[in-house]
Amino acid sequence: MADSFFSTIQARRSIYAISAASPIPDSRIIDLVQKAVLHVPSSYNVQSARAVVILKEDHKKLWEDADSAAKAALPEAVYGFLAPRITGFKGGYGSVLFFESQEDLDGLAAQHQAVAPFVTEWSDTSSGMHQFAVWTALKAEGLGASLQHFNFLAPWAEKITEDYKLPKDWKLKAQLVFGTPTGGPAQEKTFKPIEERVKVFGQ
Ligand SMILES: Cc1cc2nc3c(=O)[nH]c(=O)nc-3n(C[C@H](O)[C@H](O)[C@H](O)COP(=O)(O)O)c2cc1C
Repeated sequence: MADSFFSTIQARRSIYAISAASPIPDSRIIDLVQKAVLHVPSSYNVQSARAVVILKEDHKKLWEDADSAAKAALPEAVYGFLAPRITGFKGGYGSVLFFESQEDLDGLAAQHQAVAPFVTEWSDTSSGMHQFAVWTALKAEGLGASLQHFNFLAPWAEKITEDYKLPKDWKLKAQLVFGTPTGGPAQEKTFKPIEERVKVFGQ
């Protein structure tokens, strides 16, 4: 039955008020990320997705570094807006960083030249699917998470690659920040009329 699948999907929200605690062991968090990376599909089964799980003190340092990078690179007003958000991320339990292997994608483009122009788009599509799977799975296990895109801070992304000795072809796509939810329900969400968004023909 798809109903329980969609109940789980519906329960996932962006949760920003989180603490530096987890209701599940680290081994379970790692298991969920591994399951997503194994089973979420990719174009031509290229399996270009990579994930890095960063927990506890390392997580805190990750976002301290983001704060330093943002302060150094951004206009004061933009930094002023982002700083309290970064402080909130720093107060979480962990982050899952999503990467795509450029080497794998280049290999795919070389092997299937007719579809080479689409490889980047499909890589982003598949990465988003991975992000969604982990986000939803963490929620199902009692964690709250939000999806971030601080990869525009290039020096920060480079520092992550250096600090964790990651392959240089891994391109950072998104960061999922998580912890135990502390602040009640998620923000109110409105929905556009579904009839305007889903069309059916030939029924
Ligand atoms: C592709 C994508 C990119 C997003 N980027 C960010 C982001 O950079 N920062 C952020 O706080 N939320 C980000 N979000 C969260 C959306 O704002 C959020 O999912 C949307 O408002 C619906 O709310 P919900 O997640 O509570 O259902 C992103 C979501 C998606 C799907």
